[in-house]
Amino acid sequence: MYKVISLILFILVYKFSYSETIIRFSHVVSVDSPKGIAVEKFKTELEKISSGRLKVLIYPEGTLFDDIPVIEALKKNIVQMAAPSFSKFSDKIRDFQVFDIPFLFNNIKDIHNFYNSKAISILNRETENFGLKILDFWDNDFKHITCSKRLIKKPEDLKGLKVRTMGSNILNAQFKIVGAMPYTYPFGSLKHILEEGLIDCQENTFNNIYSQKLYNSQKYLTVSSHGYLGYAVVISKKFWESLSGEEKKLIMEALKKTTAYERELAQRKNFTDFFRLSHNSNLYVYKLSEEEKVYWITFFKRHKNLFLNYLSSEMAKEIQEMGLY
Ligand code: LMR
Repeated sequence: MYKVISLILFILVYKFSYSETIIRFSHVVSVDSPKGIAVEKFKTELEKISSGRLKVLIYPEGTLFDDIPVIEALKKNIVQMAAPSFSKFSDKIRDFQVFDIPFLFNNIKDIHNFYNSKAISILNRETENFGLKILDFWDNDFKHITCSKRLIKKPEDLKGLKVRTMGSNILNAQFKIVGAMPYTYPFGSLKHILEEGLIDCQENTFNNIYSQKLYNSQKYLTVSSHGYLGYAVVISKKFWESLSGEEKKLIMEALKKTTAYERELAQRKNFTDFFRLSHNSNLYVYKLSEEEKVYWITFFKRHKNLFLNYLSSEMAKEIQEMGLY
């Protein structure tokens, strides 16, 4: 009898001290992109500080889910974490489109200040209501336009061209205004649709353009910095609420270190990849002059109300009160 009780106690203690919590982290970019490397770092940090009790399984390059379906999968707790780009949330949580308004932010400092603003409390609340929790924000960089058919110097040059977008109403409106035809495709198909010539142009960061080898199918790159591509690191609310206070603390601790690293890496990689695109690819790289940039900004500013109407009135009011728009 004594032996049986000891055995049961041993099994319980063993199970308790070695029980693992699995976090499935899904993403769509390449493993050597800033986001891909950051997810690996997060895994290493978290497994180290939790002594292996919190285990992260990574599904990169869209192997499990594309960015838009992953949002529903997170809600259902099929996967626990992801870091989709802001535009991908917009179908479910429309205020994420605030990041898609052309020329709303001038530089990365504006973006980081925005992460600490009241506008983010609105986004946090809306995201929780949907069934996810925002844990942090990661950077990629500002977006630029590539095309296969012609060089884009002014917005009107896009007229009649088919452009791949990441899918928000604001991004689609941005291209409709100039007379282009926006089509939404997942990141995983981007390279192929361009290679097949189904689509003429797309907008992305230097890093995504380089890592996806888009220079093989695109001829022209316009350095426009017209919009920002960043990521919300989100966790399933259902999963988050099942964690202990200690587990939540460890996740936040690992994430804090990862975010600092990721943001620095994103800047470095985009800088290097711009150099590579300019010097080691066949792309014709065109930098907008100051006057041309002013023309682009003024052009899109004329459609301010159209863009604001895609946001909730609370978010629209907030960004105007902040003096951003
Ligand atoms: C895209 O779809 O082009 C990007 O959102 C991919 C990414 O995650 O950077």
